[in-house]
Amino acid sequence: MKIKQLTVVGAGTMGNGIAHTFAQHGFSVLLYDTATAQLDKALQTIAKNLNRQLQKGKISEVLKIECLGNIQTTTEKERAFSQADLIIEAVSENQAVKKQVFKDIEHYRKNNCILASNTSSLSITALGALCKNPAKVIGMHFMNPVPMMPLVEVIQGHDTDPEVIDTICQLSKQINKTPLVVSDAPGFVANRIAIPMINEAIETLLQGVSCVEEIDNIMKLGMGHPMGPLQLADFIGLDICLAIMEVLHQEFGQSKYAPSVLLRKLVAAGHLGRKTGIGFYNYTKDFKNPSVARQFQTP
Ligand SMILES: NC(=O)c1ccc[n+]([C@@H]2O[C@H](COP(=O)([O-])OP(=O)(O)OC[C@H]3O[C@@H](n4cnc5c(N)ncnc54)[C@H](O)[C@@H]3O)[C@@H](O)[C@H]2O)c1
Repeated sequence: MKIKQLTVVGAGTMGNGIAHTFAQHGFSVLLYDTATAQLDKALQTIAKNLNRQLQKGKISEVLKIECLGNIQTTTEKERAFSQADLIIEAVSENQAVKKQVFKDIEHYRKNNCILASNTSSLSITALGALCKNPAKVIGMHFMNPVPMMPLVEVIQGHDTDPEVIDTICQLSKQINKTPLVVSDAPGFVANRIAIPMINEAIETLLQGVSCVEEIDNIMKLGMGHPMGPLQLADFIGLDICLAIMEVLHQEFGQSKYAPSVLLRKLVAAGHLGRKTGIGFYNYTKDFKNPSVARQFQTP
């Protein structure tokens, strides 16, 4: 199936990256969000990221202008959903919010439109069951930052049509990504492994085994990770990390997946990492070289 018209739903961290990546590869993208401010912010972020690519010599000025020209924004559901061949959902990782969005999309979408969710942990099979035609529902799990990360974890729901998997794999290659197909299971592969590691790093901090920078440096220098687990948590967003741990805990029912109380506390305080300015590090004074957040500084 040829994908001509694409809608990205949700203009946050992931939505703007997904829109940017498709637009850069010549696709016409409609970016939909309920919040106009989020759409404006997304366009600013995309422009800033394109400028960075331009400065590094990765794209030309012409491509930058073409890319920006390929993106339109809307807050109107009918416009967003009724003409699309593919809708990629990237709204907040909250089951109730996603269910409502799926209902809205279902009301307007064309029969042959593919609906892909960028969910980090929710069941693609369960999301598919909300739709008339679950064969057209699939997981398309991009990594953050989307323009830079080569992987798309493609998740096959129980009823996903093999032809839809083929279409999504072909499409992922067209935008220069590597698709890897996995079965529908809590956390899929990437987050089932990465997020419990982050949770364990938070427990290690909470138990006073070591401090923020030391924990990150141990994993960077000793394990060859490009980013420490606490830095990574701030980068992903602590709310997203908590939501994923909660799904793993609920679905597997094992105590090893219980979210750290410190993770819960930071989310309750609104310290979600880079997107709010404070998490394990404080990004408010120097975004690129953050200091350890006041609460975690050692005397
Ligand atoms: N942050 C990551 O590193 C990461 C990585 C992979 C996948 N994901 C997944 O991507 C999805 C989005 O995550 P994010 O980090 O971009 O979140 P975010 O909080 O940055 O953005 C969410 C966006 O959804 C919008 N939204 C909320 N309700 C909506 C609705 N009813 N209709 C339309 N838009 C609505 C919000 O206005 C916001 O712009 C989640 O499912 C998350 O699990 C996140």
